[in-house]
Amino acid sequence: MNHSFKAFRLHSSDGVVTRKIESIQLDSLSPGNVVIKVAFSSINYKDALASKGLNNIVREWPRISGIDLTGTIIESWDSRFSPGDEVLVNGYGIGVDHDGGHAQYARVNADWVMKLPLGLTLLDAATIGVAGYTAGLSLDLMELNGLNPQGGPILVTGATGGVATIAIDMLSQKGYQVTAMSGKQNVVEYLKKLGASEVIGRITSDVKFKPLEKAQWAGAIDSVGGSTLSWLTRVMQTNGIIAAFGNAGGAELDTTVIPFILRGVRLIGINANSPMDIREKVWKKIASEYRPTHLNEIATIIGIEELPYYLDLTLAGKSKGRIVIDLSK
Ligand SMILES: NC(=O)c1ccc[n+]([C@@H]2O[C@H](COP(=O)([O-])OP(=O)(O)OC[C@H]3O[C@@H](n4cnc5c(N)ncnc54)[C@H](OP(=O)(O)O)[C@@H]3O)[C@@H](O)[C@H]2O)c1
Repeated sequence: MNHSFKAFRLHSSDGVVTRKIESIQLDSLSPGNVVIKVAFSSINYKDALASKGLNNIVREWPRISGIDLTGTIIESWDSRFSPGDEVLVNGYGIGVDHDGGHAQYARVNADWVMKLPLGLTLLDAATIGVAGYTAGLSLDLMELNGLNPQGGPILVTGATGGVATIAIDMLSQKGYQVTAMSGKQNVVEYLKKLGASEVIGRITSDVKFKPLEKAQWAGAIDSVGGSTLSWLTRVMQTNGIIAAFGNAGGAELDTTVIPFILRGVRLIGINANSPMDIREKVWKKIASEYRPTHLNEIATIIGIEELPYYLDLTLAGKSKGRIVIDLSK
């Protein structure tokens, strides 16, 4: 295959990162033993940071961004995959130290590739993406620690974000009572449609909270970190479980051991870059018992030309749901 195709590439010169939609050929992609015709990719918060050269996410240039993709194998030098197989790739360094999903073709290591879980389309799996996998992994680990729908309400912070919208959808369809916490105006109807029974505003960071405040939540899925996570540790019910994976609002954690030793609060760290056996197990659940039922409402489907606008919107914390890029055109 030696024709040209479209790619969204990040360049850096004298420390200034620029973004270009370019026409490139396969031989300029990072090496790999499978070639995928990309159908869809998406925007995760990490892509937004990378596209501005923030947090040292990308260190070698030029780089095609996009930490997830779905598509069809067109060439394979690995016996596990054949042309025509529908697949997904999440993480493993794509869009970071290997060219990612924001292009019409990707060449990657077959060890990073997963066959599309039964029952999901390429669009479903891209709408879910790294964000939805993170929501599914959080729920799986919380349930392994005893969370169940009878235990009490679950708080989802950063509620209009990619991970959070899918988490709300998954939790509510599994019978959990969900409260959504959002800093945005006019999103109550949207969040209730996804399955939240209540929507509350963000907590303000300048309030000094006691080590233990009124116990409210049996579980929390936290995209925000910082003062929100600090507050969360203080307001969990006895044996409440917090899944912490995000730092959209800050990376510090200022709390005491009191919630952990008096209420048995459990703080579970979530790293979506899991080994393949965990991914396969969790994706199977995402396609069945956790299956989100509002993917159409969560996805905003855009073309490659609209990437700069939506990356900036995500970085500013102003996007809603999942931004999915249709690379077929
Ligand atoms: N550990 C992992 O493996 C892993 C995997 C995936 C994602 N993440 C992290 O998880 C977080 C969420 O990812 P995402 O893709 O869902 O991002 P996203 O779509 O940008 O959503 C983040 C949400 O957080 C809220 N928010 C943004 N800025 C905030 C601030 N300054 N203070 C309080 N809330 C703020 C906003 O929701 P509202 O406006 O509704 O409040 C925003 O929609 C990010 O930090 C990301 O890096 C980590």
